[in-house]
Amino acid sequence: MGKSNEELSQEVLDQLSHVFDPELGADIVTLGMVTALSTVGGEVMVTVALTTPSCPLRGQIERETREAIESIDGVSKVVITVGALEPEAKAALMDRARRIAQNGAPETSISSSARILAIASGKGGVGKSSVTANLATGLAQQGYCVGVLDADIWGFSLPRMLKLEDRVEARDHKMIPIEKRVGTGSIKLLSMGLLADEGDAILWRGLLLNRAVQQFIEDAHWDGIDYLLLDLPPGTGDVSMGLARHLPRTEVLIVTTPPLAAQQVAGRVATLAKRSNLRVVGVIENMSAFTCEHGSAQAVFGSGGGTRLSEELRVPLLGEIPLDGDVVQGGDDGIPAIMGSGPGARAYQDLARKVSLLLPPHHQLEGCSARLLDALSEAVGEA
Ligand SMILES: Nc1ncnc2c1ncn2[C@@H]1O[C@H](COP(=O)(O)OP(=O)(O)O)[C@@H](O)[C@H]1O
Ligand SMILES: [Mg+2]
Repeated sequence: MGKSNEELSQEVLDQLSHVFDPELGADIVTLGMVTALSTVGGEVMVTVALTTPSCPLRGQIERETREAIESIDGVSKVVITVGALEPEAKAALMDRARRIAQNGAPETSISSSARILAIASGKGGVGKSSVTANLATGLAQQGYCVGVLDADIWGFSLPRMLKLEDRVEARDHKMIPIEKRVGTGSIKLLSMGLLADEGDAILWRGLLLNRAVQQFIEDAHWDGIDYLLLDLPPGTGDVSMGLARHLPRTEVLIVTTPPLAAQQVAGRVATLAKRSNLRVVGVIENMSAFTCEHGSAQAVFGSGGGTRLSEELRVPLLGEIPLDGDVVQGGDDGIPAIMGSGPGARAYQDLARKVSLLLPPHHQLEGCSARLLDALSEAVGEA
């Protein structure tokens, strides 16, 4: 029942095509940085050649390469050799990067240094939108400019949860997200709920539906964002396939609830995400133990789902958000619970800290990245 070496090699390449070199704006397979790959049984040996061996991005690329390969079923061991490209190979790679930057993935205003995180789950009602609203607020409080794309076209709830309800306007035929300052940072939102009046919207929503998310990505001004959070509709299917095409750098955070049944549903989403070649980077458990006023914790919905799923997927459990009435109230009032001080707020603050620590925007990786990127976009601009 094991996989053949060829099958495994192909899966490794598929996964590695989602390891992104932020300084060059493309994945390491397309760039030709994977210079050797062999598999024997479940053992995978891969060589990744960098433009500069001392590049500060080395650690990140190496770690993401390892994680991408380890996420494949049947891999027992990963050996990564990091090398440096020969000068000619490096020149060819820079050439390729330039061409990719010009005519590759669809044109968007999303900076290549922005971190793109999609919040997904198998079913509705597990708290995706609450997590999105609170995480966006937490990251903005840390000073980031956070784009929020409400990809739940039919079931949008972020305009209310974030109290951003103005009508969207356009400049140069592109939508301008509705923005507000939060702490030292800001949030910019696009949602179907900001586009037209309830009544007549239904009709053209139907027409636009299959293109709406793509338009929110491509026909919008997302300049200056450090993060883009996407609140996905329940299940997977079309939207995540679309994302793989239109925003191939998207990474997925899975929200699950404590019971094991929910964890299995979430596991299916993870499998689907992987099949559409999106990398799953973390799990968030929502509606965990409930802390009563006298301080004792009660696991209303059972426990362990988040931990089990994160172990199964071999990704970190980034947060355990307790059941907390403040989360509901905050969603209704448009003042996310994280702004308060209860157990939900503390858990969300902890989640936001972990995300900025483990999944920082790419430009924060200092050194060669930003400079090379500037040089590259200048070169592309001149071409
Ligand atoms: N940690 C929590 N504690 C209490 N209620 C919550 C929590 N998270 C979400 N909720 C509530 O559950 C409902 C569904 O949450 P929502 O974020 O809309 O889920 P989804 O976007 O996955 O459909 C909302 O009424 C929300 O206020
Ligand atoms: Mg929702």
